[in-house]
Amino acid sequence: MSKEYVPLIQTGQLNPGEKKIVFVKGKELGVFNVRGEFFVVQNICPHMGAPLCKGTICDKIQAEKPGLYIVEQSPILRCPWHSWEFDLRTGKSLVDDKLKARVYEVILKDGYIYCRI
Ligand code: FES
Repeated sequence: MSKEYVPLIQTGQLNPGEKKIVFVKGKELGVFNVRGEFFVVQNICPHMGAPLCKGTICDKIQAEKPGLYIVEQSPILRCPWHSWEFDLRTGKSLVDDKLKARVYEVILKDGYIYCRI
């Protein structure tokens, strides 16, 4: 089956910091607005199957000394079950480089968020 872009929700339905769960082609997907950038990830953790999208968004930061830090990787989605973390851009686990959450390519068109699925 070939992949196609499918509309998920209107961009105006998801403010920065919000997420929604949608069902598309038999899959449960989380749509995230992180500081105005949209991400789509399948709602299954590749570790042990948790509802990954119920997790929290964070950043991976590095601090060389108190008060001085840099953001190394962002955004990160932390699983609600065992707190493993996944890069929302690539799906790669920060714990085990063999594990990947399923992330989808996103485009914005005519006020809608589409993902390629
Ligand atoms: S099920 Fe997600 S980290 Fe274990």
